Amino acid sequence: MITMRKMVLSAIALTSLVGVSACGEGPASQDAPDETEAAAEPEIELTFAEMTGDAAAGERVFVQCKACHLLEEGKNGVGPSLYGVIGREAGAVDGFNYSDANSGSDITWTPEIMFEYLESPRDYLPGSRMAYPGLKNAQDRADLIAYLGTNGE
Ligand code: HEC
Repeated sequence: MITMRKMVLSAIALTSLVGVSACGEGPASQDAPDETEAAAEPEIELTFAEMTGDAAAGERVFVQCKACHLLEEGKNGVGPSLYGVIGREAGAVDGFNYSDANSGSDITWTPEIMFEYLESPRDYLPGSRMAYPGLKNAQDRADLIAYLGTNGE
């Protein structure tokens, strides 16, 4: 409701502006500012704490990890098993040959840290062997973390 009212108000404001300055080009110049406003909204940086992850959506995002990670306990692929990874210390999977960057990182995979890490793993952990560019969409990361949290103990 609030959004609707805001849009109506700004449309009225625009109409009067356009009426004064740019006769004839009304529709085009009216659209542009509205689009900018709509596109700008997702840019507002939400912190992880302000987001709600959807585990079912996260399961679909996990498809991107599946090439290298399994969720079964003790089953490693190209990457270590992600069974119970939320809350786990980095480099803790037996039998997986981690890089020093990963195993020596002293990280515990809390949801907050995972949220930052997954945006760009190699910026977060320089020297990591995880060949994955990162998940830029914050909502996708929150969903994925919710999904990973359903797996484990
Ligand atoms: C191309 C293969 C590949 C893909 C795709 C990939 N990973 Fe990885 N991942 C790895 C490897 C290899 C490591 C070990 C890195 C090291 O030792 O430096 C790793 C490590 C990790 C770790 C640290 C685990 C630990 O025990 O410390 C997490 C968490 C992780 N990956 C999550 C993910 C998630 C979530 C995705 C999907 C968005 C993903 N990875 C996609 C290969 C991959």
